[in-house]
Amino acid sequence: MKKLVVLTGAGMSAESGLRTFREMGGLWEEYDVYEVASPEGWEKDRDLVLRFYNERRKQLLEALPNRGHYALSELERDFDVTIVTQNVDDLHERAGSSKIIHLHGELKKSRSTIDPGLIYDIEGWELNPGDLCELGSQLRPHIVCFGEAVPAIEEAVVLVSEADLLVIIGTSMNVYPAAGLINYIRPGTPVYLIDPNDVITAGQSGITQIRKGAAVGVDELIRMIKDE
Ligand code: APR
Repeated sequence: MKKLVVLTGAGMSAESGLRTFREMGGLWEEYDVYEVASPEGWEKDRDLVLRFYNERRKQLLEALPNRGHYALSELERDFDVTIVTQNVDDLHERAGSSKIIHLHGELKKSRSTIDPGLIYDIEGWELNPGDLCELGSQLRPHIVCFGEAVPAIEEAVVLVSEADLLVIIGTSMNVYPAAGLINYIRPGTPVYLIDPNDVITAGQSGITQIRKGAAVGVDELIRMIKDE
């Protein structure tokens, strides 16, 4: 089977009711990114950070995968599909995709503040001050903050460098190292982009854009690549 790597971002889950970050009405219009998504912000006001992610976790528990998520899991019948996602939601998992790499962490998990290797599932939507790891440190959301390392990036680079097709869905390609993954494709590898808006693709040319939302765009992609 041909290897298909799918890089997804917040737009993939927009039609599931989860807000994107940089669009009109996006999360970063309402919240200061350095207060809620940086190591400095965590040190300065942990309660604010915990509340921010509790709210997002509550919304996630009420959200459902959309047609785009399901279509990607169905694509596994014809392709060896790996999802490399910037999203911290679990909608790809809930839609049945079997190979998923979370570059920026997972909203339904917490981790120790002193040992990042200690990771726990969160029951329900609340992670509160006083919730401690087995070493006695305050638990924090298992989310990669700006300025922190992206542990899974090397694995993602290898996957993209071996891909027969690269598909990019719902990301503004503003955040590195994720946005730089496109530069690791082998020459001549077809690249498809599903996004209703213009996206700066790191100077790569020859990209086929499907100017649709993910919920209809993935089915259109499948029709286009079925005979690839
Ligand atoms: N279907 C597909 N794409 C969509 C849809 C949709 N229904 N709605 C919006 N989009 C597109 C927008 O046009 C935009 O290009 O999704 C993209 C969302 O971009 P961002 O809000 O910048 O989100 P993303 O690229 O995932 O952000 C990357 O930045 O804030 C951090 O860690 C956070 O993982 C995140 C990273």
